[in-house]
Amino acid sequence: MSEKKTIGVLTSGGDAPGMNAAIRAVVRAAIRENMNVVGIMHGYNGLLNGEFKDLNERSVSDIIGKGGTILYTARCLEFKKAEGVDKAVEKCKEKGLTGGIVVIGGDGSFRGARDLSVKGIPCIGIPGTIDNDINCTEYTIGYDTALNTAVELVDKIRDTAQSHDRCSVVEVMGRGAGYIAVNVGAACGAVEVITNEMPYSIDSVVEKIQALQKTGKKHFIVVVSEGVGGSVQMAEQIEDRTDIETRATILGHVQRGGAPSVRDRVIASKMGKHAVKLLSQGIGNRVVSLKQDQVVDYDILEGLDMKKPYEVELHKLCEELSF
Ligand code: ADP
Ligand code: F6P
Repeated sequence: MSEKKTIGVLTSGGDAPGMNAAIRAVVRAAIRENMNVVGIMHGYNGLLNGEFKDLNERSVSDIIGKGGTILYTARCLEFKKAEGVDKAVEKCKEKGLTGGIVVIGGDGSFRGARDLSVKGIPCIGIPGTIDNDINCTEYTIGYDTALNTAVELVDKIRDTAQSHDRCSVVEVMGRGAGYIAVNVGAACGAVEVITNEMPYSIDSVVEKIQALQKTGKKHFIVVVSEGVGGSVQMAEQIEDRTDIETRATILGHVQRGGAPSVRDRVIASKMGKHAVKLLSQGIGNRVVSLKQDQVVDYDILEGLDMKKPYEVELHKLCEELSF
């Protein structure tokens, strides 16, 4: 009889709502496949330090609806070096993680997963980041929750902007990518969305606000993506040049927390099961992705090399409807 496989699961990089739902799915699917599961705490740091926790079906009770990650997460510089990867392989062997590791995180984490796979520890990546900036997948776990949180907050900002006849410049997360910004802008009726993916100038923002003032519009929401930044200075310029009182708000880490949405829980569950299926077949070096709403998988390097289009049409629609 073949030996019962043991697999590991870790979360790495920035946390995202729905990571816990993915951990739960990995643990329970692995048990169904007759495999043992070990939680690796604090991402690759925990792997290097031997921070392991045996998990069973009860270890993941009551976490499907919780934000954050019960396994904690970290960024680990040591793991980026070849010696770090070698040490991690040794730790995997010591703990008997021969079945492989499920890595829930962003593209940096997947590069680490690829390095481990090449050295004989099969790894499967599951995309977990609020930014939706992983090119091979239409969707990353945490994105929907972050969008809904940001929209709720911008709606609140609009209430006060409306009461004071003000302009509000709101900066949303997304690292270098404008997916959060354009969707939040479209959903909140922003007068302008400013992202790195589309050309913009402060002159055209000011001119648009001035033109709309003449039609009787009195309050304005401008959404800026984190990658563009400078929202405080932008607000100062808008106020100076339009005479409209303007405030800047950087939403920040509040976008990363909270109970995951239905979409995040469901997709995390599907992706977790898919990852385990691959490892149970001895397949590694793959990243789980969503393509036309179906769960698929790609070679990690091929996945990282793919290109994902920006939502140009949505950006244009947002501008077209905001007057
Ligand atoms: P994300 O996974 O969200 O993109 P990071 O870029 O911070 O987040 O990566 C998370 C961790 O993955 C890093 O702290 C490091 O341990 C590992 N990692 C990142 N880039 C690489 C790389 N090029 N090679 C190997 N490991 C990497
Ligand atoms: O990748 C998720 C994210 O929240 C980005 O949107 C943001 O740029 C970054 O992480 C913030 O990282 P930290 O938590 O290290 O401040």
